[in-house]
Amino acid sequence: MVKIAPSVLSADFGRLAEEVAKVEGVADLLHVDVMDGHFVPNLTVGPPVVEAIRRHSRLPLDVHLMMEGPECYIDAFARAGADYLTVHIETCPHLHRTLEQIREAGVKPGVALNPATPIHTLEHVLDRVDLVLIMSVDPGFGGQTFIPFALGKIEALARRLAGTQARPDLAVDGGLNGHNCRDVVEAGATMLVMGSTVFGSPDPKAAIREIRERIGRG
Ligand code: DX5
Ligand code: ZN
Repeated sequence: MVKIAPSVLSADFGRLAEEVAKVEGVADLLHVDVMDGHFVPNLTVGPPVVEAIRRHSRLPLDVHLMMEGPECYIDAFARAGADYLTVHIETCPHLHRTLEQIREAGVKPGVALNPATPIHTLEHVLDRVDLVLIMSVDPGFGGQTFIPFALGKIEALARRLAGTQARPDLAVDGGLNGHNCRDVVEAGATMLVMGSTVFGSPDPKAAIREIRERIGRG
């Protein structure tokens, strides 16, 4: 079954506990976007906010690290209660070591690729990650438009994974909505990250149900 991970970036940060309660029981994970103002032109949250969300939700926390030098913060995010820690390949010159460090901290490692980063850069780590995150917008902001060439990357990666023993989740993040979710799943996505489509809706639970209906309809 395709997993749905609402991104709290589009939630009301002044009422996070109430916001995450709105998707409890319907979402599969909660996606938390960490931005450092260097790798991406925006600043968001760090370990204390992840720890606060942890106290208010039973959902697994999928923490997306859009930051330079993520290796310095892995233990802090692990202690804060992250279930997945996804680093960007563009910020990790020692990617293998960083992924090992995440696993040693007791967290599931993920690796993310910006839209312009080719999937062959993942070749040697596919069997070492629990999640591959294909960005379908340039990261930094919610509510951007899906970049169509991401579909070809999802298809190519799904084909590549089918030829290996590796079975990481194939997550897609950025610009997903009721119009494109079906194409993304047909291309091979197994996890959909959705910010504005879920938390921008007056009824986040209904928004998730609608997405499930759209991707399930034959
Ligand atoms: C973008 C973030 C996304 C963002 C997606 O840089 O990584 O997770 O919250 O937001 P939407 O779904 O609104 O594009
Ligand atoms: Zn994200």
